[in-house]
Amino acid sequence: MIAGIEHVAELIRRESGMALGPSRMPALAAAVERVAPGLDGSRVATAAVKDRGAAGILAQLIDEVAVNETFFFRHRRELDAIDWPDLARTAQAGARDHVRVWSAACASGEEAYTLGILAGEAFAGSTPPVLILASDISRRALDRARAGIYAERSVRQVPADLRAKYLLELGRGYGVDPKLRSLVRFQHHNLVSGSVPPAHESPFDLIVCRNVLIYFDPEVATRVVAALEGALAPGGTLLLGTADRLCGPASAFAASPVREPPRRTSRRPRAHVSRRPAKPEAVHSGPSLTAALKAADAGRLGDALEVIDAALAADPLHSDVHFVRGVLELTRGDAAAAVRALRRALYLDPQFYLAAFQLGRAHDFLSQKESARRAYAQALRILEQGHVERPDLIEGLDPADVEAACRARLHALSPDANAPVPERSA
Ligand SMILES: C[S@@+](CC[C@H](N)C(=O)[O-])C[C@H]1O[C@@H](n2cnc3c(N)ncnc32)[C@H](O)[C@@H]1O
Repeated sequence: MIAGIEHVAELIRRESGMALGPSRMPALAAAVERVAPGLDGSRVATAAVKDRGAAGILAQLIDEVAVNETFFFRHRRELDAIDWPDLARTAQAGARDHVRVWSAACASGEEAYTLGILAGEAFAGSTPPVLILASDISRRALDRARAGIYAERSVRQVPADLRAKYLLELGRGYGVDPKLRSLVRFQHHNLVSGSVPPAHESPFDLIVCRNVLIYFDPEVATRVVAALEGALAPGGTLLLGTADRLCGPASAFAASPVREPPRRTSRRPRAHVSRRPAKPEAVHSGPSLTAALKAADAGRLGDALEVIDAALAADPLHSDVHFVRGVLELTRGDAAAAVRALRRALYLDPQFYLAAFQLGRAHDFLSQKESARRAYAQALRILEQGHVERPDLIEGLDPADVEAACRARLHALSPDANAPVPERSA
C-alpha cells in the first residue's frame, strides 16, 4: 500500500464529499499509481492541491474513485412521482415558458435523458417545454454523457416503444436521438464545494438528486439537501432517491405518507418528493406524525417537536414517535438528544431497522465511529434476517435502499466492510 494514502482520501473527501473508507484504500492506491506513478500519498495530496485544473491530478483522482453506476429508467417508480403538468403550471406561474430541470450528479447522463423521455411522453405530440441541466463532478462521466452513446446494459430498462422513439440503434449500442439530446446540456459541477444552484443558473422547478448523498458524511448530505431546497423556484420539487432521503434532514421524509399511531394512513402512490412550499402551511391539529413532519418541512422545527411531545404524552411507548423525535433532533443539530430518542425507539421495537440506521447517523454526527458502525451493522442484521414484521413507517420505502445506505456508511467507517456498495437492478 502507498504510504500516506489517507492524505489523498482526506483531500478527496474535503473536495467532493465522497468518504472513502479503509476498504476502498487498495482501489485508491491503484488509482494514485495510475495518475501519479512513484509518488507517496502526502506528495500526491500536495501536488493535487496545486493541480486543481480540469485535467489536473485532483480531477483525475475523482474520476477514478467516483461510483458512476447508472442506467436509463433507474428506480422508475421514483421518477413516476414527477407531476409534469403541475411543473408546467409552476413554471408558468413564474413567467417561464420552460420547466427548468436539474439532474444533479447525473454521472454518464442516463438519468437526464430519462427525464427528457418522461417529459416527452408527458407533453405528447410536441417538443416538451423543458430545459434540463445535467451536472456531475466527474469530467470523464460527463464526456460519456455528452457523447450519448450507450451499451445494451444501460438501456435494458427502456420499454421497446420508447427505445424506438428516443434512441437510435447503432451497430453496437444505442445513440440518443438528436431531439432528445437537444433538451439536455451538461456541465461540470461540484455539489459540495460549488455554489448551489450552479453559478449563473436561476432556480429550478425540478431538481433530481439520486444515489449520491449516500456516499457523503451525514453533515455534508444534510447541508447539500438544504442547499438544493434553496435552489428550487417557489412551488418547485426536489426529488431525492429513497436511500438519499434517509441521509437527509427530517424535511426529506416529510412528503412521504407515514404510518400514524395507532392506525395506518391510507395507501397513496409512492412519492419521494419534497416540495418547496409556495407559502407556509399551518400545523395540523392533534398529535400526528404527518403534522410534525410537515411542520419540519416548513422549517418550523419547534412546532414539530411540540406535536411530538403531545404524541408522546398520549402514548409514551410508541416507537415511531420516538423515532420521529430522533430524526427531528438530528435535523436541529442535537445529535445527543437524537441518540437518546432513537435508542428508545429501538428498545421499544428491536426490529426497527430504520431507527437503527438513524441511530448510526446520530453517532456519525457525534464522530462516535464505533457506535455508528455498530448501529448500521444492527440495521443490516435486522434486514438480513429477513423477518421484519413491522409495517414500514414510511410507506413504499424499499428496505433495499436502507440496506444500500447502511453498507455505504459501513464502507466509510469500517475496515471490515469490504463488500461493494450493493446495487439494485431496478
Ligand atoms: C451512483 S452515480 C448516480 C447517478 C444518477 N444520479 C443515478 O441515480 O443513476 C453517483 C454520481 O455522483 C457523482 N458525485 C459524487 N460526488 C459529487 C459531488 N460532490 N458533486 C457532484 N457529483 C458528485 C459521481 O461522480 C457519480 O457520477
